[in-house]
Amino acid sequence: MPAIEKISARKILDSRGKYTIEVVIHSKSFKTAACAPSGASVGKFEAQAFPEGGVESSIQLLQNELSPKLKGMNTEDQTEIDKIIWKFDGTKNLSKIGGNAAIATSTAVAKAESKSKNLMLCQYLGSNLRLPFPLSNVIGGGVHTKGDSIEFQEFLVLPLGAKTFEEAAKTNIMVHRAVAEIIMKTHPNYVLGRNDEGAWAAPLTINEALETLTKAIEKVEEETGVRAKIGIDAAASELWNGRKEEYVYKKENKRLTSEQQLEYVLDLIHNYEIAYFEDPFQEEDFEYFAKLTANTKNRSIITGDDLIVTHKKRLQTAIEKNAITGSIIKPNQVGTLTDTKSTVELCHKSKVIPAASHRSGETADPALAHIAVGLNCPIIKIGIMGGERMAKINELIRIEDTLKISMSKPPI
Ligand code: PGA
Ligand code: ZN
Repeated sequence: MPAIEKISARKILDSRGKYTIEVVIHSKSFKTAACAPSGASVGKFEAQAFPEGGVESSIQLLQNELSPKLKGMNTEDQTEIDKIIWKFDGTKNLSKIGGNAAIATSTAVAKAESKSKNLMLCQYLGSNLRLPFPLSNVIGGGVHTKGDSIEFQEFLVLPLGAKTFEEAAKTNIMVHRAVAEIIMKTHPNYVLGRNDEGAWAAPLTINEALETLTKAIEKVEEETGVRAKIGIDAAASELWNGRKEEYVYKKENKRLTSEQQLEYVLDLIHNYEIAYFEDPFQEEDFEYFAKLTANTKNRSIITGDDLIVTHKKRLQTAIEKNAITGSIIKPNQVGTLTDTKSTVELCHKSKVIPAASHRSGETADPALAHIAVGLNCPIIKIGIMGGERMAKINELIRIEDTLKISMSKPPI
């Protein structure tokens, strides 16, 4: 229960080499820091990561104006502190101070409080703790990949049969490796590279990516006996031409109406047993999400990322319309831990599966691992290659080893 003496902040670099913010809470006996990540496929309705003046402007405001307001407050009072952040900002999307400054401050407060209580952050955040299944990007396209890449943003693996987190992480690594071996055979003249989230960037069509991933999963399943399924993040807002009302697949040379997109996605789910499908439609289309959900009950987790942007109100709308069965939880989309927590609580109450998620531009801060465990998210969407992703994977291995807790019930 330390009292805040002051808050400072500095510019640091994220995994894409772009500036982001690290916030430090100073109390009498110690300091705690937290960093915020940034996205590339940013939803229209999410908090604005930085104000117009960029990171510097966030830092100035935080140190000169917000810090004095929070001085003397107790880190126990998370809700109150988060309220003051919102009040100080005064905008709807945190565009004055920046969503990244807000979430880093909010997270650093929780870290300070858990440290003073001698608890791991996840223990401080919740009870009945379980480990999440890692949902990892193994073949990547969209805005995370340079060049003429696959139109869907992410082809993921979900190791539903894993009995421990370590086994789950190992399975995803093996699938990632097996994918490379297969692509090296099918494209012997191609030099494989990894994209922003550590997924393989390759000159594949959507079907080729799915065939490759299917084979890789089968190979690993044969070796280990661990059952795994395919996930997709279409990030369909990036494909949507609002003026013409169609999804544009330039590389595949096709344009689909929403109705055709629905049929296409249903076919993919059926043909490749896709257990998780994120953002199959653009970010305002609750109706088509609902049509898909009605047709895929218990077969695939239909998940909103840009649709929900971790905002409780948008989640409420989606629930009322039966639009989704899963929701991405990205704390910096909404700006504070209190808001993140209340969105996850609504997920639990409404039987929507919350999936705590990284951003494509990450830092080495492991806090997301604790947020996933502490808020009882049965899925953590996190890449399986690259130091900034491993920081979370390894933190989950540490949590498993330290707390001896078991895996969540498989979400599907
Ligand atoms: P972003 O994308 O972090 O680049 O916004 C990740 C996602 O769409 O899930
Ligand atoms: Zn997404």
